[in-house]
Amino acid sequence: MTTTMTNIRVVQSKDVDLILNTGIDGLADIEQWLSKRKLAFFLTENIYIAYLAFVDIKEEPIGVIMGGLEEEGRVWVEMLSVSSDYRRRGVGTALMDQLINTAEIVSARGLMVDIDHDNYGALKFYKRFGFKRVGHMNQYYYDSSKALIYFYEL
Ligand SMILES: CC(C)(COP(=O)(O)OP(=O)(O)OC[C@H]1O[C@@H](n2cnc3c(N)ncnc32)[C@H](O)[C@@H]1OP(=O)(O)O)[C@@H](O)C(=O)NCCC(=O)NCCS
Repeated sequence: MTTTMTNIRVVQSKDVDLILNTGIDGLADIEQWLSKRKLAFFLTENIYIAYLAFVDIKEEPIGVIMGGLEEEGRVWVEMLSVSSDYRRRGVGTALMDQLINTAEIVSARGLMVDIDHDNYGALKFYKRFGFKRVGHMNQYYYDSSKALIYFYEL
């Protein structure tokens, strides 16, 4: 694996435009389920823990991870996306390591994620991390595909 040197920093509310307008695959989809105003609110109120990855000093994000802290004490991984040009270079792993560290700091019980049953790459990624399958939800996504639910216990 070629590793990419990345800078990772926490998302701030001023990054909302960057997050919504950036070219990271899948990222623009966020507007389908989250309005700009809500996203800014969640980020300012620290309901979401989110990080952006950059390559070197370029201000163009190449990856994002976002976890929502739930009342039950779990962090739900709402979003993880790495630009297709930078995949398989450890960027997703670096982002997930960062989210796991933060989840530990806030004493979360674990991390939960829903993954499209067809998303072979993501399933391999999460299983490699040690996430375990705990359930599924039929017709979960907008195209009616099935979600597999995975949990990582802290
Ligand atoms: C899933 C995703 C975030 C992984 O990011 P990444 O930066 O490529 O991940 P890493 O380089 O850290 O990969 C770590 C390991 O995960 C596994 N993995 C990651 N992507 C994989 C793929 N497409 N196929 C098979 N295994 C994969 C491999 O074991 C990899 O290690 P290796 O490259 O040494 O074999 C990225 O593919 C992506 O953005 N996909 C589209 C969005 C998405 O599906 N997000 C998840 C929604 S739940």
